[in-house]
Amino acid sequence: MFFSLFLVTFLGFSSFSLALDTASMRPRSVYQLVTDRFALPSSSSSTSCNPSDRKICGGTWAAIEDHLDYIQQMGWDTVWISPVVQNIGGTTGEGEAYHGYWSLDVSQLNPNFGTASDLTSLISKIHERGMYFMLDVVINHVAATSSSNFSPSSSYGAFSTSNDYHPFCWITDYSNQTQVEDCWLGDDSVALPDLNTESDTVINYWNGWIKDMISNYSVDAVRIDTVKHVPQGFWKTFTSSAGIANIGEVLNGDPMYVSGYQSNGNINTFNYPTYYPLVRAFNSTSGNLTELVNMTTWVNDIFPDPTLLGVFVDNHDNPRMASYTSDTALIANAHAFPFVVDGIPYGYYGAEQGFSGGSDPDNREPLWTSGYNTNTTLYTMFKNLNDVRRAAFNASNSFYETRMNVTQMGNNEILIVKGPLISLLSNRGQGSSGTVTIPSGSSGWGANVQVLDAVACEIMNTDGSGNLDVKVNEGMPRVMIVETSKGNVCSGGTSNSSTSTKSAAGRRADAGQWGQVGWTVVGTIMLVMGLCG
Ligand SMILES: *[C@@H]1O[C@H](CO)[C@@H](O)[C@H](O)[C@H]1NC(C)=O
Ligand SMILES: *[C@@H]1O[C@H](CO)[C@@H](O)[C@H](O)[C@H]1NC(C)=O
Ligand SMILES: *[C@@H]1O[C@H](CO)[C@@H](O)[C@H](O)[C@H]1NC(C)=O
Ligand SMILES: *[C@@H]1O[C@H](CO)[C@@H](O)[C@H](O)[C@H]1NC(C)=O
Ligand SMILES: *[C@@H]1O[C@H](CO)[C@@H](O)[C@H](O)[C@H]1NC(C)=O
Ligand SMILES: *[C@@H]1O[C@H](CO)[C@@H](O)[C@H](O)[C@H]1NC(C)=O
Ligand SMILES: *[C@@H]1O[C@H](CO)[C@@H](O)[C@H](O)[C@H]1NC(C)=O
Ligand SMILES: *[C@@H]1O[C@H](CO)[C@@H](O)[C@H](O)[C@H]1NC(C)=O
Ligand SMILES: *[C@@H]1O[C@H](CO)[C@@H](O)[C@H](O)[C@H]1NC(C)=O
Repeated sequence: MFFSLFLVTFLGFSSFSLALDTASMRPRSVYQLVTDRFALPSSSSSTSCNPSDRKICGGTWAAIEDHLDYIQQMGWDTVWISPVVQNIGGTTGEGEAYHGYWSLDVSQLNPNFGTASDLTSLISKIHERGMYFMLDVVINHVAATSSSNFSPSSSYGAFSTSNDYHPFCWITDYSNQTQVEDCWLGDDSVALPDLNTESDTVINYWNGWIKDMISNYSVDAVRIDTVKHVPQGFWKTFTSSAGIANIGEVLNGDPMYVSGYQSNGNINTFNYPTYYPLVRAFNSTSGNLTELVNMTTWVNDIFPDPTLLGVFVDNHDNPRMASYTSDTALIANAHAFPFVVDGIPYGYYGAEQGFSGGSDPDNREPLWTSGYNTNTTLYTMFKNLNDVRRAAFNASNSFYETRMNVTQMGNNEILIVKGPLISLLSNRGQGSSGTVTIPSGSSGWGANVQVLDAVACEIMNTDGSGNLDVKVNEGMPRVMIVETSKGNVCSGGTSNSSTSTKSAAGRRADAGQWGQVGWTVVGTIMLVMGLCG
């Protein structure tokens, strides 16, 4: 115990890299933020930022450093920030390159976000906390203000000749994979010149570049943009050159299509196939859970390893869950899903503050307007779910690799068994309560066992046969583990569901307060031990 704290506290000060491999990525939980929108430097003169303007609002790497507590105390251990390289300047028909995805010269950093030493400092601050840094990279294309005035030049760094690019054509038919790989994304406002990823010059440059970025900045894991627009064979060598854990965006709902990138490209993709039925299941109280159950089973059957997929609800490309519904129970259930299924949970900044932006650019709100409130219902839920996932691993060291079993229980609930975590998600909505019996045969729980729900921090008791009547209280999710395995989940206090008279809201507020006290205690212990060391 002392020794591991010592390591976390002091090794981090060296440039020692904590790089993640595939297996050590499984226990992670990743918080995605948009650098321009997450935090302003204290010197910033203006705090106004209207996402629909698509303008640079002024967030920086240095300012992220000031809010690492906010991320870590919510339980996340990996930070994914916007791409870091130089982007095209000025205003386009689609605004400014505030998001970082419009590369110009990938050998330079984006000066809007800070300097090389700011980035190095942020990453070392992340490492000092025992957390990990995920680099977002765009490999498929660079950017230009239009297709007709694009001409390769030294402003594009290494990609300065026309041989480095596929000849211009727009992608018009997404069912034609040749077009998807060889033609260009974008439109006349912003064209995304497509790199010739079959050219040895381009291949060798990228393979060397990713190695250098990882070693220059001590990167732990890589997130890869627009994966389906580059051949699978390219990814196989690129990911082996990178040599660290990866996660790739294959924006497609067909599990047969997406799984090919894990089978043949050595890319662990986001679980887009499950994303779409997940949204439909929880976007209204009449959402169809059958489709979601069917998809989880399908994904489980055909991906070589579904436990390495990135599971998400919100991100910078899709409308936020809270833009589809204002029902707080439906939103909570959708956000609980990534923590309780096979795969690695990904959260998107602002969900914890109830942000409800719809399609891009509305889903890239400034976080500073929230005051970084750590006392919201979802902030506390994310913390508890991150904690219970770790507790499940502590109780069973095969937890992350264990394949889940998802079954529907009536019209409005699904039971997800991923031992030792047993979860009941519901789309009955905030106005409705009901009781679902979880049979001992499904949960594996014995007779008269105390079970903790990590969302409401309530204790329940199985009956003399090991069955548990679970009250789905006001439509909220239940994420359960036997009480003796709870570790530090709900460390501040739990209530007994059969004796408690408090409202659900009252209990959540208590959990929030206790959560803060708990962290203060942990922080003080670490400080004291650090001083002793
Ligand atoms: C697919 O797109 C390529 C490139 O645009 C084109 O040459 C080819 O004919 C298309 N194939 C089909 C089946 O449409
Ligand atoms: C990495 O650092 C080396 C040495 O300073 C430098 O030459 C190279 O350009 C850097 N590469 C990247 C991708 O940052
Ligand atoms: C919401 O769910 C309904 C069915 O419950 C579906 O028809 C609709 O497309 C969903 N909306 C989105 C944005 O997925
Ligand atoms: C739900 O989806 C399943 C599978 O797609 C379908 O068979 C069933 O009819 C749907 N149920 C409702 C109520 O729409
Ligand atoms: C259910 O999953 C199977 C594969 O297991 C798939 O063939 C089928 O299309 C799916 N059905 C629905 C309605 O999603
Ligand atoms: C947390 O929020 C609740 C209301 O949701 C409030 O009663 C409580 O005082 C807040 N606690 C702190 C520490 O701000
Ligand atoms: C999943 O759970 C159901 C219900 O408990 C059970 O009938 C089924 O055999 C389980 N499937 C697997 C693959 O474990
Ligand atoms: C891990 O489990 C042990 C008991 O097996 C318990 O004492 C400890 O508190 C747990 N730690 C965490 C972080 O859950
Ligand atoms: C919760 O209440 C039940 C029934 O009243 C009781 O048997 C159990 O011991 C209580 N558990 C705790 C932790 O208070």
